Amino acid sequence: MASYDLVVIGTGPGGYVCAIRAAQLGMKVAVVEKDATLGGTCLNVGCMPSKALLHASEMFEEAGHSFAKMGVSVPAPKLDLPAMMNFKQQGIDGNVKGVEFLMKKNKIDVLKGTGKILGAGKVEVSGDGKSETVETRNIVIATGSDIARLKGIDIDEKRIVSSTGALSLEKVPEKLLIIGAGVIGLELGSVWRRLGADVMVVEFLDRILPGMDGEVAKQFQRMLEKQGFVFKLGAKVTAVDSSGKTLQAKVEPAAGGAAETIEADVVLVCIGRVPYTEGLGLKEAGVALDNRGRVEIDAHFSTNVKGIYAIGDVVAGPMLAHKAEDEGVACAEIIAGQAGHVNYDVIPGVVYTTPEVSSVGKTEEELKQAGVAYTVGKFPFTANGRSKVNQTTDGFVKILADAKTDRVLGVHIVGREAGEMIHEACVLMEFGGSAEDLARTCHAHPTRSEAIKEAALAVGKRAIHM
Ligand code: FAD
Ligand code: NAI
Repeated sequence: MASYDLVVIGTGPGGYVCAIRAAQLGMKVAVVEKDATLGGTCLNVGCMPSKALLHASEMFEEAGHSFAKMGVSVPAPKLDLPAMMNFKQQGIDGNVKGVEFLMKKNKIDVLKGTGKILGAGKVEVSGDGKSETVETRNIVIATGSDIARLKGIDIDEKRIVSSTGALSLEKVPEKLLIIGAGVIGLELGSVWRRLGADVMVVEFLDRILPGMDGEVAKQFQRMLEKQGFVFKLGAKVTAVDSSGKTLQAKVEPAAGGAAETIEADVVLVCIGRVPYTEGLGLKEAGVALDNRGRVEIDAHFSTNVKGIYAIGDVVAGPMLAHKAEDEGVACAEIIAGQAGHVNYDVIPGVVYTTPEVSSVGKTEEELKQAGVAYTVGKFPFTANGRSKVNQTTDGFVKILADAKTDRVLGVHIVGREAGEMIHEACVLMEFGGSAEDLARTCHAHPTRSEAIKEAALAVGKRAIHM
């Protein structure tokens, strides 16, 4: 029977990164993957394909709308959807191959099949009618998450789709109805709107992007509406009739009341994701789950069964690839006897739309609720020179700092490249820096990042360009 120091179940960003770090630390490691390709949700049907389509569709829209005003005259762009999907697939393949290469480079065995924990120290791997059992000193559960479903609305991945189907539609829907104004709804809604769909988003709450700073979400909603998004907030879809040529969705106010029928060619259900633990044998192995079906862990990623750990989407916390990766590294280090650690106060979140939205740390609502006295510094891109010359002035930077100590508690950006810009705030916050530290740091001119420096100056009411 093959024997390992560590077997990681699942090869998403949590699992494969954990395996690499463990191998770097001298462990004999295997990963188990049930799907045909490595990389998990993120590489195959999540982060990467969605970003490829966001990029390609943004180029399509830019070519049609923005080139002419810059004096770049091109014929009206034509959409070749199969070619765009091929571009997406090439991106997926490249990244998946990269993970395969990294497994080989780090001498990590890849065991193809479904992993089942037979108890501490034993994992059964079965697939293709074969089954083998391996021995291991440690097990890391990194099985990720699955789409959340809506009762009575059956996803067929053709007309009623999850994010997976929405990444592979065969034609641009005339009318796309999206259930859920979260990250997936707004990113994939952006893709299909840019390619020509009429997009309506039905959201249960009275706002979009719950969890993000309220002011940012409100302004961002207006920007999306200007682009053509139609939002129905405080509403829910209770049924979708797919018997006719077009889908008929029954939409009701969230608080109850008269229903209306909305017609659509495609309905995208994106109301969150749920931990994936099917077939893992957790019950038999005695591994405890919390009340939301997530694997319960302590501060060291350990489950209640010694030698079994869990990381990523399958445990509590934001369902983000970089959170899973950082947990993977920290967990491997802890198994190796080191002091692995994840700072959950500094995990950035990015929505990769146009403009982008990015955020790290506390929102204004969270600070109010916690009774923390804070100061706000804001700076709009309309006052940033580089944004002005590029004519991309939508959005602003908002910095929240502790009123007494000036320590930065949260940074929120809506604007182009916000997803890249957020990281200087992350580094600052990781080192416990203040708004003054940021304000005194020289920023290259002309860059959009100067808006961050100006927002930091604005905390002390001394922004220069406003
Ligand atoms: P996963 O990536 O879900 O990987 C789990 C793996 O485990 C899978 O390969 C699965 O097949 C395997 N597995 C499960 N059970 C077993 C078993 N019993 N035996 C063997 N293998 C098993 N996050 C971001 O940070 N940025 C983004 O831009 C972003 N975009 C996204 C876009 C979409 C459309 C979606 C759906 C998600 C997106 N996410 C994004 C979220 C991100 O994909 C997840 O947070 C991330 O993939 C979680 O990593 P993980 O390693 O925990 O699990
Ligand atoms: P989400 O949690 O971001 O948003 C779901 C939305 O659906 C919420 O606004 C919620 O209020 C709403 N909702 C819930 N039930 C509803 C109902 N019955 N009717 C109408 N609205 C309802 O989840 P989403 O967008 O599905 O994404 C899943 C996960 O994937 C997220 O946790 C996210 O972190 C991750 N992801 C991250 C991305 C990124 O980092 N850029 C991109 C895409 C996904």
